[in-house]
Amino acid sequence: MFKSFFIGEKEIKLPIIQGGMGVGISLSGLASAVANEGGIGVISSAGLGLLYRRKPGDYLKDCIWGLKEELRKSREKSKGTIGVNIMVALSNFADMVRTTIAEKADIIFAGAGLPLDLPSYLSTSSETKLVPIVSSARAAKVICEKWQTNYNYLPDAIVVEGPKAGGHLGFKRENLEDANYSLERLVPEVLAIATSYKDKKTIPVIAAGGISTGEDILRFIQLGASGVQIGSLFVPTDECDASDAFKQIYVNSSQSDLMIIQSPV
Ligand SMILES: Cc1cc2nc3c(=O)[nH]c(=O)nc-3n(C[C@H](O)[C@H](O)[C@H](O)COP(=O)(O)O)c2cc1C
Repeated sequence: MFKSFFIGEKEIKLPIIQGGMGVGISLSGLASAVANEGGIGVISSAGLGLLYRRKPGDYLKDCIWGLKEELRKSREKSKGTIGVNIMVALSNFADMVRTTIAEKADIIFAGAGLPLDLPSYLSTSSETKLVPIVSSARAAKVICEKWQTNYNYLPDAIVVEGPKAGGHLGFKRENLEDANYSLERLVPEVLAIATSYKDKKTIPVIAAGGISTGEDILRFIQLGASGVQIGSLFVPTDECDASDAFKQIYVNSSQSDLMIIQSPV
């Protein structure tokens, strides 16, 4: 049996967060389907201007328009909890954060860099919750300390991504197989930071990266995570917003097709 948890006053009935997947992989279709099941559906803000291209040269405006459209569509399809994933590394990070807050989306998930100034975008009437994505306890600590000192605000939850989450994380290639950097090791470390603030705020910790079975979910819940964030597993679903060709590559792949590539970021 899954246990619900809270992000702010919002109860998340199914402790599964669908990871934001750009470009165009997780939009309103997948996000609303997950939200309708009681989990958190997440729209990725990465590259929306490519999908909502109106006329050449207006990429930044198209991104804002695209995000508004995807939020509107997800609200049409679901009354559940919808988040927006915004990478700190995006050149239009501020635009995407402002738009998400103005549109009153439930949650911002911000990673791929330290979102140190994220609370500065909130006003007293804002409803959007703020959830940083980290890949170390050190990053979690820096964010909590800076947010508290500068904005008197603490994260509403923290997502911890282990090396198997891939993407824009802080791991070196040699860390990937090193047990010291495993998600099983990271979750208790990040929990220790989160619970050190328990007198001020309950900060749920969400585990991500390589989670693909019920056993995996149970393992991280038993380690103290309130929920899990899952990406890849959602790609080959009917509800996923990716093209069928993209999904078929996942479906037709086997273990021997997997390789680690060096990311330019
Ligand atoms: C196709 C794809 C695109 C992704 N795009 C983003 C993104 O735009 N921003 C982000 O923070 N994480 C991104 N992620 C990471 C996911 O949100 C999630 O943390 C990760 O996939 C979890 O690991 P898993 O795929 O093993 O479940 C992406 C993952 C995939 C598979």
